[in-house]
Amino acid sequence: NRLRHVDSMASLPSGAGSIRELNAVILGESLASEENHLVFPSDDFSKQALISSPQQYLEMYKRSIEDPSGFWSDIASNFYWKKKWDQNLIYSENLDVTKGDVSIQWFKGGITNICYNCLDANIESGNGDKIALYWQGNEPHVDGSLTYTQLLHRVCQLANFLKDNGVQKGDTVIIYLPMIMELPITMLACARIGAVHSVVFAGYSAESLHQRVMDCKPKIMITCNAVMRGKKTIDLKNIVDAALLESSQNGITVGLCLTFENESAMKKEATKWEKGRDIWWQDVVPKCSTICDVEWVDAEDPLFLLYTSGSTGKPKGVLHTTGGYMIYTATTFKYAFDYKDSDIYWCTADCGWITGHSYVTYGPLLNGATVVLYEGVPNYPDSGRCWEIVDKYKVTIFYTAPTLVRSLMRDGNEYVTRYSRKSLRILGSVGEPINPSAWRWFFNVVGDSRCPISDTWWQTETGGFMITPLPGAWPQKPGSATFPFFGVQPVIVDEKGNEIDGECSGYLCVKSSWPGAFRTLYGDHERYETTYFKAFPGYYFSGDGCSRDKDGYHWLTGRVDDVINVSGHRIGTAEVESALVSHPQCAEAAVVGVEHEVKGQGIYAFITLVEGVPYSEDLRKSLVLVVRSQIGAFAAPDKIHWAPSLPKTRSGKIMRRILRKIASRQLEELGDTSTLADPGVVDQLIALADS
Ligand code: PRX
Repeated sequence: NRLRHVDSMASLPSGAGSIRELNAVILGESLASEENHLVFPSDDFSKQALISSPQQYLEMYKRSIEDPSGFWSDIASNFYWKKKWDQNLIYSENLDVTKGDVSIQWFKGGITNICYNCLDANIESGNGDKIALYWQGNEPHVDGSLTYTQLLHRVCQLANFLKDNGVQKGDTVIIYLPMIMELPITMLACARIGAVHSVVFAGYSAESLHQRVMDCKPKIMITCNAVMRGKKTIDLKNIVDAALLESSQNGITVGLCLTFENESAMKKEATKWEKGRDIWWQDVVPKCSTICDVEWVDAEDPLFLLYTSGSTGKPKGVLHTTGGYMIYTATTFKYAFDYKDSDIYWCTADCGWITGHSYVTYGPLLNGATVVLYEGVPNYPDSGRCWEIVDKYKVTIFYTAPTLVRSLMRDGNEYVTRYSRKSLRILGSVGEPINPSAWRWFFNVVGDSRCPISDTWWQTETGGFMITPLPGAWPQKPGSATFPFFGVQPVIVDEKGNEIDGECSGYLCVKSSWPGAFRTLYGDHERYETTYFKAFPGYYFSGDGCSRDKDGYHWLTGRVDDVINVSGHRIGTAEVESALVSHPQCAEAAVVGVEHEVKGQGIYAFITLVEGVPYSEDLRKSLVLVVRSQIGAFAAPDKIHWAPSLPKTRSGKIMRRILRKIASRQLEELGDTSTLADPGVVDQLIALADS
């Protein structure tokens, strides 16, 4: 039962010819007859791949489920541990709330350091002169690079500065930086001394940053004065100042704000400064020693906090620990991208999101990879920028989000075909379901029909890939994330929590833990249990819907909770609503997601104004502005729909199902409206739909 999708393909032929034949044999006639829908890796690709056949995948997968201890300890032995974990207990878990507190531990008792494994270990194995980071600035002529040795020196200097300023093991550091090299440097410096980093995406507003300061009470704030995004200068220091001021008025004072001068965006002299609290990075960090001893930590000591949106207004501090996360991000990176030493890897995600943690910083560096970091936006100076960067650095693995694929697709093939892109061998997608037409464009136009696409399904909470193609192993179906990664047991359950087999759709859960799983929500273990483990006892509930087809391929269908996925960013409807109702003229707000051609989902807000306030264009603008300033520009509503009142049940609950249908203009599908307190509300809303 635990190996259902493996069992259905149990009798593996050996010594079959090409992967195409092998797949046809293994997957049976049903797949072969659908061959038009399948995209096979070339024989040449499969031959060189780490996992080169379904058979090899299935054997490894089987072992990972039947013998997780053996499977993961073999892998973990390739990393540096000051002291090995307790050999009898590689993991312990309770995912069943009905049996006590939920807890997950991996490699407990093992003593290690992830920064040591990312840097020192690679240098010791002879890779000190290899480029660790290529940095590409917003302007095409502004760039830089660091070898592994140089990166270690930079990290040690900052780590020493942090130590000298009282940051100790277990202390929290907030990082509010754009995509400059100082961002991964800071993450690694924290990890080196056992401090817990909390990166806040530098597109969040002062209000959001303030909320996070209040929640995790950082010892120090690390930021830079400004950043250029395309032609726009964004004054980050101003945002930090406002956040810290508000925090100190609310009782949390951050005594030190280390500020990097991002010279190409703004000069020192133009930066607002608070004497006594603010220190220029360039004045102090370069003076520190380039040698810094490692703080050895337990595998279960916290590595970082990363806030993400949930169904309530309050962001959740997802907590990841050290050992399991290290092994998991490194292993998933290696296999899902079929990583080779000669690869040049570029992931377009920002380190402010989980993708930038696991697959810009930790996963690649643990493998000794060369990583490209890009400061700017993908369409500056024009829509060919990504491919210009690919050619400049000879990028071999390019990992991005469907929203970017769709927006570049809209801009036309000419921007792509103008560049060679010959170096590319693997493409990746993350953040939301990739629609088959975008998949095909990515595959055919960007990858010249040569590069497999790893459509990786995972979450902030999962730490690393959960369901993903292994590019040399499986034929792909455009839009499907295919099969689970080693050690992961996805199950699809119905409303009652019963597992459903075979071809089905339902709620996506995971049975048993995996090393990269988050361990708690910071300061709120109860919310952790309620949100993720109570809906379907015994399982981790992802919040996503999923269907499985007759061949066992997984198709993610989007969030089933009150979370909207805008351009691959998770935004809670409640967060946007609470920003909107803070506007003095807004009496009530209800937000739903609506299909959006480029962003995947757009934000659609129904607004009831305070009695007597007339609708106006200015008011619409100021409502959008209030969301931008309370959350960030990326959460701004795409549409404001004036609503004299909202459809509610007699008990006062807003019927979002109806609002979603109105928002997407599926007016014939409104369903039963008889349970509404006032069914007339619906007609009113429809009448105002395009006003
Ligand atoms: O709905 C799923 C979607 O993104 C959510 C996780 O968002 P976040 O924690 O911000 O992490 C994004 C980067 C891992 C999921 O619940 N999602 C992510 N990747 C995919 C996806 N949906 C479909 N296919 C994917 N490949």
